[in-house]
Amino acid sequence: MAKNLQSRASLRDTREAVAIALGIDLGTTNSVAAIATPTGVEFILGARGERVHPSVVAFPNSGGVVVGTDAKRYRLSEPHNVVHSAKRFIGQNARAPLVQLALTGVRYGVVEGPNQQPIVVMRDRRMTMPEISSHVLLHLKRAAERQLGTPVKDAVVTVPANFTDGQRQATREAGRLAGLDVLRLINEPTAAALAYGFGQDREEMIAVFDFGGGTFDVSILQLDGEVFEVLASEGDFFLGGDDLDRALAENLAAELHRVLRVDPRPHAALMMKLMMGAEAIKIHLSENEAAEGEIEGLDLPGGQVGTLPFALTRGQFEELIAGYVERTMTVTRQVLIAANIDPRMISDVLCVGGSTRIPMVRRQLAEIFRREPNIAINPDEVVAQGAAIQAGSLTGALSAGTGMGARDAVATAGHSPLAHGAVTLPDVEARRPVLLDVNPATLAIHTAGGFTERLLDKNAPIPIERSRIFTTSRDNQTRVEIDCCRGEARRYTENEPLGTLLLDGLEPRPRGDLKIEVQFRVDADGILHVRASDQMSGQQQEAHLQVLGAPVDASLPTPSDRPGDKR
Ligand SMILES: Nc1ncnc2c1ncn2[C@@H]1O[C@H](COP(=O)(O)OP(=O)(O)OP(=O)(O)O)[C@@H](O)[C@H]1O
Ligand SMILES: [Mg+2]
Repeated sequence: MAKNLQSRASLRDTREAVAIALGIDLGTTNSVAAIATPTGVEFILGARGERVHPSVVAFPNSGGVVVGTDAKRYRLSEPHNVVHSAKRFIGQNARAPLVQLALTGVRYGVVEGPNQQPIVVMRDRRMTMPEISSHVLLHLKRAAERQLGTPVKDAVVTVPANFTDGQRQATREAGRLAGLDVLRLINEPTAAALAYGFGQDREEMIAVFDFGGGTFDVSILQLDGEVFEVLASEGDFFLGGDDLDRALAENLAAELHRVLRVDPRPHAALMMKLMMGAEAIKIHLSENEAAEGEIEGLDLPGGQVGTLPFALTRGQFEELIAGYVERTMTVTRQVLIAANIDPRMISDVLCVGGSTRIPMVRRQLAEIFRREPNIAINPDEVVAQGAAIQAGSLTGALSAGTGMGARDAVATAGHSPLAHGAVTLPDVEARRPVLLDVNPATLAIHTAGGFTERLLDKNAPIPIERSRIFTTSRDNQTRVEIDCCRGEARRYTENEPLGTLLLDGLEPRPRGDLKIEVQFRVDADGILHVRASDQMSGQQQEAHLQVLGAPVDASLPTPSDRPGDKR
């Protein structure tokens, strides 16, 4: 029987046997979800057929929760009720200086919660950042279920390469709260490389330059057939299009102050309008040499409505953002040094993320690598495409045809080729890409004299583990505390504190008599696990390192449990 004539009934049988797993790019600004099919990748569409879903969650005064494109509507009317850019805060320590700085750019309320987590406060609700992101994930899950006509439970979710342990744990927690089984977290640049190279039998070294809405990272990968090996990765998770918008919005605010004699900075809705205007001007200047026009409908205090004229050349905008762009290039030069690579060894530079559409970024990249960056790939979709390929490989729904060489299996809402039998599952042997990633940050412990001892190095291949023997310093000591940190500095206080590892209930003995082996392991998701065992008694102890900013309570209700949520 010709494969394409397979009946709906038998297709359904096959599909029951093969679980569908979503690939999700959970972005700061936008999220994209896709699934692998034997002939390409199928994107999950929103109600209006859109492939890109804003990572925006609104809790309007009228009640319920609104996610995605519809949530953006509330940005002007109810700016305090709209959560955007949650990825900038997820799994972060609310006290970290960069977090404090980023909080000045959002209009919703954030306070410090248990374990120094940032907590969103909205009227009578208090929500963790994983909870906010879970609304975005649940929105995608439901859209996928509608499109595919089948329940979807499994997912591969992408994270920036330099996401820390706490941020990764929090992202996993967001998946759990959305009712998803997160099979793997994979790094965004690795996902992009996978989409680029899967099924292509490439043997080359590439750079992935990912400059999105809120995070920036750059990675060097070696591709060898189906092996995708990250050689080095560097980044700055507080650098993205949001910052460029803010820089321009501040300029517009100063101009508004000058022209209309009103300082807009204390007014949330007014600043939001300027941010939106700034983003539109920025995008226009990627295609055009100048932007000229008016921002209308500015609700000024006192009930007046104002209009702000603007005129800006690309050159002026470039001056405004030069410092940010220079930061991305500095990091890019650093990663080449870290990987000990001459830029000429790189055969392709993939541009990922919306901010790589800025001509100045491409120009400077071309200077560093002495070649034009690859702009043939879709910077908004390539990460989700890679996540879908990885998800497909974990569930076996993959063939060589799924890679970028193949055309997309383009779906229209409610007409998924998978759901309607236009595509059958592969009967060829499934291809399995091998992803070899690296440890995102150096992990160290506090030693005598205020110094650190490095346990796991940044850019070491993962999974990785390392053990160290500890002992007691006093007689009959039954408790040992080990302070852990992240960073490269020799002095403990110059690094970022991770938390304290506590070993309790030890057998009372003379000092120095106990030998406790502590094992630090970073798994393939980049998440740290710590285990301790008493070498004398052989007793195992699961030592708990509560990473500051990471989720603490795994028993929060899932969003779908809550009454009154409308989507
Ligand atoms: N043509 C353009 N010129 C300049 N910037 C653009 C253009 N198109 C989109 N952007 C910017 O790209 C950013 C969004 O990019 P993207 O969707 O890749 O980010 P994200 O995946 O949500 O974020 P991240 O990967 O950092 O978590 C926004 O700041 C947007 O303004
Ligand atoms: Mg992104």
